[in-house]
Amino acid sequence: MPNIAYVNGRWSPITSATVSVEDRGFQFGDGVYELIRTYHGQVFHVQEHLKRLYASLSQVEIRLEKTAADLASIIQLGIKRSGYPEVKIYIQVTRGAASRLHHFPKGTKPTLVMTFRKLIPVSKLLKNNGVSVISVLDTRWDRCNIKSLNLLPNILAREAAMKASAYEAIFVRDRFVWEGAGSNIFAVFGKKVVTPPEGPTLLSGITRDIVLSLGKKIRLDMREEKISFSDLKKADELFLTGTTVDILPIVRLDQKRVGEGIPGPVTILLQKLFDTTSLPPKSV
Ligand code: PDD
Repeated sequence: MPNIAYVNGRWSPITSATVSVEDRGFQFGDGVYELIRTYHGQVFHVQEHLKRLYASLSQVEIRLEKTAADLASIIQLGIKRSGYPEVKIYIQVTRGAASRLHHFPKGTKPTLVMTFRKLIPVSKLLKNNGVSVISVLDTRWDRCNIKSLNLLPNILAREAAMKASAYEAIFVRDRFVWEGAGSNIFAVFGKKVVTPPEGPTLLSGITRDIVLSLGKKIRLDMREEKISFSDLKKADELFLTGTTVDILPIVRLDQKRVGEGIPGPVTILLQKLFDTTSLPPKSV
């Protein structure tokens, strides 16, 4: 099978999968999601992603009957059915289909959609050479720790990045930097490796967490601290983390060079560690 979808228990090719136009995900963006990937056929940190999904669901008071174990089995089935070694798995849960009134409908079952698509990994060229980013005003709400389907500010920010020939847009709010439109950010200042702290201003990335642990293991000075935009511009190194990018060096911020304008030694070290110790081996 090619790219496939699971919608409330039914499997189909992605192109013929449908949900109701009354679905609150479509009407209001009333739902949450997760993105999980595989490396060489093995799903990556699925428990952490599912934990974050249930945390998002609970914050918006959507009660899914299925358990994390149920979702994990559907994921396994989908990976098998798709047949791809590298799969991009989106799980989207909405409050369900109901007539269009803002308040929660009574007796409506959530809609569960999972899609399994071929994942094209971020190119080696970008991983080796780094990317450009721009800064944008953070116009999002105050609950960015919820992985909400409402992504308009992220979409507008990415579009602005695209128009500026940049790879990612970095959100700046109240003179502080929080994260990218679809990734977390780290900055290296001398021996300190800093990423903004968890809280309502950012999505606590699974990759961010892995990178923090990896750095601590090799005794780097890993810190979760606020970073002002003016400090960000003086960083020796910057990099992005995320499910679709792993660890991606940033070499230009708002058209100006970051550090020497090439990926720095700490970023390269963490990339190597991530690739050699965090990913499942190819032969499995
Ligand atoms: N998003 N911050 C935001 C706003 C994100 O959307 C993402 C990931 C991350 C990184 O989280 P993680 O390491 O768990 O992937 C941080 C994915 C790529 C998406 O929405 O498609």
